[in-house]
This record gives sequence, C-alpha cells and structure tokens, in this order.
Amino acid sequence: MNRRKFVTSSLAAAGCTLLGNAGIAVDTPVSAYQVPGSIPSSAVQQARFPNGFLWGTATAAYQVEGAWNEDGKGESIWDRFAHTVGKVKGGTTGDVACDQYHLYPQDMALTKRLNQKSYRFSVSWPRIQPSGTGVPNVKGIDHYSRLVDAMLENGIRPFCTLYHWDLPQALEDRGGWPNRDLAGYYAEYAGILAKYLGDRITVWAPFNMPWSFTYMGYGVGAFPPGRTNYGDFLKAAHTVALAQAEALRSIKAASSKATVGSAYGMCPAYPKTESEADRAAAARYHAMNNVFFLEAAMHGQYPKAFVGEPPYELMGFKPGDEKLMHAPLDWVGFHYYTRRVVSDASKASSFGGGNFGGTEIEADPAGGRDPYTRFRAVMPTEGPLTESGLEVWPRGIYDLVTQISREYDRPIIEITESGCGYLDGPYEKENGRVPDVRRIEFFRQELAELARAVADGARVRSFHAWSLLDNFEWANGHCERYGLIYVDYRDQKRTIKDSGLWYARVSASNRWDV
Ligand code: BGC
Ligand code: BGC
Repeated sequence: MNRRKFVTSSLAAAGCTLLGNAGIAVDTPVSAYQVPGSIPSSAVQQARFPNGFLWGTATAAYQVEGAWNEDGKGESIWDRFAHTVGKVKGGTTGDVACDQYHLYPQDMALTKRLNQKSYRFSVSWPRIQPSGTGVPNVKGIDHYSRLVDAMLENGIRPFCTLYHWDLPQALEDRGGWPNRDLAGYYAEYAGILAKYLGDRITVWAPFNMPWSFTYMGYGVGAFPPGRTNYGDFLKAAHTVALAQAEALRSIKAASSKATVGSAYGMCPAYPKTESEADRAAAARYHAMNNVFFLEAAMHGQYPKAFVGEPPYELMGFKPGDEKLMHAPLDWVGFHYYTRRVVSDASKASSFGGGNFGGTEIEADPAGGRDPYTRFRAVMPTEGPLTESGLEVWPRGIYDLVTQISREYDRPIIEITESGCGYLDGPYEKENGRVPDVRRIEFFRQELAELARAVADGARVRSFHAWSLLDNFEWANGHCERYGLIYVDYRDQKRTIKDSGLWYARVSASNRWDV
C-alpha cells in the first residue's frame, strides 16, 4: 500500500469523513469500508475488560531518563553507540531524552492522572554498578528507590525490568553477552536490586526482548555493540538464557515477595502457504523469535528453532546447562506490535537476513535469515502501516495470546508493551491539543481483540501501552513518537495527546465506548 492510501485508510478507520479522492468516495460511511485486519466497530463497542485489570504504560531507562553521566553513572553501550557519529538518525542521543531522571515526580503524577495502575520501567545497570561489577553506587539505588516510592504514592504498581539494553560498556569491553561470565555478573546485579527494592517491588522481568538485543547487537549489528557474527549471537543468547535463570534465583533469594516473569518481544508467525515446509518454517520462527527464552526457563531446553539439532557447540552450551537455565517463571510477559509471514528457506543458497534499518524488520530478505534456522520472515503490508513502518494487524494479538496460553497451559499473562509510532504534534488551532486519532484507533481495535482472547479463557492481567511519553527511539532517535503524552524536546513540556485522554477513560471504566 502506498503512503497516500495508507493515510486514507487509517483516517477511515479512525472514523473521519474523507476529504480526498484516494479511492473512496467522499462521505462514504465508515462502516461501508473495512480496513484489512481491522474488526467491525460494533465488536469494538462491545469489548469489556474484567474488574481489576491492570492498565499500564511502559518506558525504558535509556529512552527516557537522560542524566547520562550524573550521580556516578557509568557509560553504557547505548551511550557509546549514540555518541558515535552516524549511528542514530539525526545525530540524536539519549543524553537528555525526556529528562525523567529529574522529572519523574511530574511523570508519575501524569501517570496517575491517566488512571494508570501499573508502570513498567527499567533500571540502568551502569547507574547501579558503573563498571558492571562490584559495590553498588548508592546514588543510583536512591534514585530508583525514590521513583518506586513516587509510584506507590500515586497508587501505581511498580513493574521493574532489570535490563532494557543498556549494558555497562565495561562489560562489553570484557566480551559482552557472548562471554558466559556475564550471567554471573548479571545475577549479582539482580540480587542487589532485589535487596534494596524488593520490599516494594513484587513484579520483576529480567530482560526486555532478549532475542532482539542479542540478534540485533551481535548477529546483524544494527544495535550496539554492532557485531555481525552469527556465532556471537548464539553465544550471547545462551548466556542470556543462563542469566535469566540465575537472576530469577538471586531475586527470589533476596526478596520473599518477588515474582519473576518476562518481557519478550513476540510476533505471531503465519505460514506463507499451507505447505508443510512453510508451516514448519513458521514453527521455527515461533521457536527462535518468540519462545526461545521462555522454553529455556520453563523446561530447561531450547525449542526446535533450528533445522536439525541446535548448534550446541557454537552456542557454548556445556553439559548441565539445561539445569542451570531451568527456572520456571511465575507469569509470562510479552509485547505485541506486528506479525510475520514466514516461508521455508531450506533450499536457499544465500543467507544473510536482508537489511535491518534499526528495527528488527527485514527490509529485503533475499535468501533465508541464516543457515541454521533456514526460514525467511517478512512483515506483510496488507494492513495499514504506522508512520514507524509497522503493519497494523489487530487480530495478531488475539492469535498470539491464545497460542501462548494454549502452549504453556494457561499461564498468567502480562502484555508488557504494545503501541504505534505516529508523529502527530500539538495543533495550534485546537489550543495545542494533539489529535492523534490513528493511535486511538490502533488501541481501540487491538484492545478489542485482546478482550476477545480474555473472553476465550486467556488469563491476561495487564496491558502496558508503549509508551507513557514520546522518547528516544533507539537508532531512529527522535524520528518516531510512540507516546500517549507528547514531549517537546526543546523545553521538556508534556502535553497529553487525545489518545492519552482516551486511554485514561478506558482505564477507568474497562470499556471502549467512552
Ligand atoms: C512446548 C515446547 C515448544 C513450544 C513452542 C511448548 O508448548 O512445550 O516444546 O517448543 O511450545 O511451540
Ligand atoms: C522496545 C522499545 C521500543 C519499541 C518501539 C519495543 O520493541 O522494547 O524499547 O521503543 O519497541 O520501537
């Protein structure tokens, strides 16, 4: 779909009358035209969530905090990456970001104003241990302690992600995640957090999107440290699976109230054709990208992600590791943004994974992704694309949630992130309001599909919109905006977008027709 058509259909989905000539007659009632992947508005209207459902938002330390070198914080790999010319679009860095390190009282007050019950934030490891090991930096601990108190004072559940990609640079200098020693360092860090914050935090997720930061960082080099070595990716992934389990154990040893889950990135995988080969390829995608670390934790084994046996030697897998990585989670957390269509690449002769432009989407996958998993995964463009370039496909969350629920015997599920990038800003003629109708429509549709999964028996207890506020969007810098709150980076002024006002009403009422 070209951009014009996409904007038009997004507007139609948002209930606007069309002014243009882009394929649909002016004044066509919205109901007469249904965007691919969307659901009828009558179904949306009827959607309900159970009482006590935890409405939330999510952020990550490097994306919002700023204060990159204050109060004894060490350098992270993202500091190094963003300070390297040419790595981040527009030359932006996270040095200041949303300045939440200083503005958190205001942000937690806004969170309360949006009727939120859960805030998923991450801790910056180099604030706690500037060089990745050793005695904790008291000022770093104090910061998070105050942040957690601010949440509790506002009636918000603190959901702590221990690692959202900002590895202490000193540990990268020791080999980074492919170095197995990091599992032990990480467990020590996790224990420190649980010791100082575990009296107030009960919900912990060790890693945000472990497949993404290991693959993008070590396999294809779009994220720091920018390596392009498949063996390094596999070793990093294995260290992270060990670290996840070690962290679970050290968190629980330090805090009797702790529950530990996850914040995996997942995309439902649809086979390209009904052929057995494509169905098997989609299953390998699911195993590699969605449940690799979940399966390691739950069952102490890797799922069938590879054609044939896992390349254990390349992974640095040692006898007994299956026991070390086995650490059943108390609940399962994952994100949903978009879907994949997957086909078999067993016979492909060229591998390389296509081009990655700062997100994990393969721009032009020529052959298969790699010679081990031998599949080709593409993001379809049947549904409208957001301005961040992801296909909107509400049905995907229903399929994904019901699949995980089925495969893991109805675990408690937390949706740790979901959202969309649109650039809408304050509109002068409307007193500075931010009328981001496409974001409202994205959430309306998606949440109606999630409600359907709940009605069908999935035990989903929370939903965290990405994000509370516009923030530093990794390699895309400030070129993408995902917030329910608009941030003016010139003066840090926050403006609640129309989607934020809408989400606040949904959160208060558990229904959509608000
Ligand atoms: C099974 C695993 C499998 C996973 C992914 C789980 O239910 O226990 O063996 O790898 O689903 O399909
Ligand atoms: C990541 C966020 C990121 C968002 C939007 C998620 O997968 O966890 O850090 O900002 O996607 O791209």
